[in-house]
Amino acid sequence: MKILATGGTGYIGSHTVVELIASGHEVEILDNLSNSKESVLDRINEIAGVRPKFFNADICDFNALSKIMREGNYDAVIHFAGLKAVGESVEKPLEYFETNVGGSVNVLKAMREAGINKIIFSSSATVYGDQGLGFYDEEAQTGIKIACPYGETKYMIERILMAEAVARPEFECTILRYFNPIGAHPSGLLGEDPNGIPNNLMPVIMRVSTGDIPELQIYGDDYDTEDGTCIRDYIHVVDLAKGHVSALDKMKTGAEVYNLGTNKGTSVLEMIKAFEDASGKKLPTKVVARRAGDVPVHCAIADKANRELGWKAELDVADACRDTLNYLAHEARG
Ligand code: NAD
Ligand code: UD1
Repeated sequence: MKILATGGTGYIGSHTVVELIASGHEVEILDNLSNSKESVLDRINEIAGVRPKFFNADICDFNALSKIMREGNYDAVIHFAGLKAVGESVEKPLEYFETNVGGSVNVLKAMREAGINKIIFSSSATVYGDQGLGFYDEEAQTGIKIACPYGETKYMIERILMAEAVARPEFECTILRYFNPIGAHPSGLLGEDPNGIPNNLMPVIMRVSTGDIPELQIYGDDYDTEDGTCIRDYIHVVDLAKGHVSALDKMKTGAEVYNLGTNKGTSVLEMIKAFEDASGKKLPTKVVARRAGDVPVHCAIADKANRELGWKAELDVADACRDTLNYLAHEARG
């Protein structure tokens, strides 16, 4: 298939583009480079042997989007582009609704105009909000006590996609709810390189390991879990990327939702230990107060993706730590 990947130079997008090319798909990328670099295209070329055609464009620019889609002859769009920093979304809600929701409406309108019927959308486990279930399957309710405007945008986009699937009988929509993506490409050429001060656990661990952050603050060790720290479902980004390829193979009319996770929880302390084991170095840590909005356990039941897409996560947190360290070593060498 010929695919347009919005946000395709980003962390998850770039890994997915590599897997799509490896599976024989033709991919073009649209990105405004607000959180990624054009050099990622060369890295993709190094790994996959193809440098995807690139459009430096913004999903908020409907005319640009529409021209690219009308001229591209695409079979499908994979829509990664968007803003994703939870804290920033609290400070700048309008920017988040404009880019994520407004931009997604533009993507859908341009697709409709160009006669493109297939879309895969990057949603998030955050749409399940805080229901205290611990493990979530796709039947769990969404939209309840969502912690932040970022999460609200994902919920709203899902609703918009579902409405579009009702309005357009030929529309094939797959919503993928990612749990906690971590890790890097085993080549060391692609990984997550967040701008500014990171908030998510693995990027913070990376900065602590390089000495850029003096110590890892553990946000609470008094949760009702075995070791007292929060448990999440960390999924290796290469597994996540492969999930998109499986989803693309199995698209059908209507809107379908799949969790992409591992069915397994890892606590903060277990993650720290896994990283220390992989690096052979102790990380300086300090237990501090709980972070507002955190829940003790938030993990996936991803059986539907296994059953219907034939997809299952194969890598574990030890693989993710090893690949992250390899990526860091590559970046340090420049
Ligand atoms: P990322 O920031 O690395 O990638 C997003 C890409 O979109 C970037 O390359 C950025 O430059 C681009 N972009 C942003 N605004 C744009 C705009 N207006 N027009 C065109 N391009 C734009 O993030 P990621 O981690 O790869 O996430 C990809 C998608 O997955 C996002 O939609 C994100 O919300 C979602 N997601 C991510 C996580 C996670 O933890 N990484 C979890 C759940 C869902
Ligand atoms: C965060 C987002 C969530 C988003 C998800 C995507 C918040 C409140 N939630 O969730 O909306 O969908 O990322 O990946 O930001 N931790 C520490 N010290 C740190 C950083 C994190 O102890 O320096 C702990 C956190 O308290 C948490 C765990 O590590 O228990 C994982 O944190 P994080 O990587 O931010 O992911 P989520 O909390 O799942």
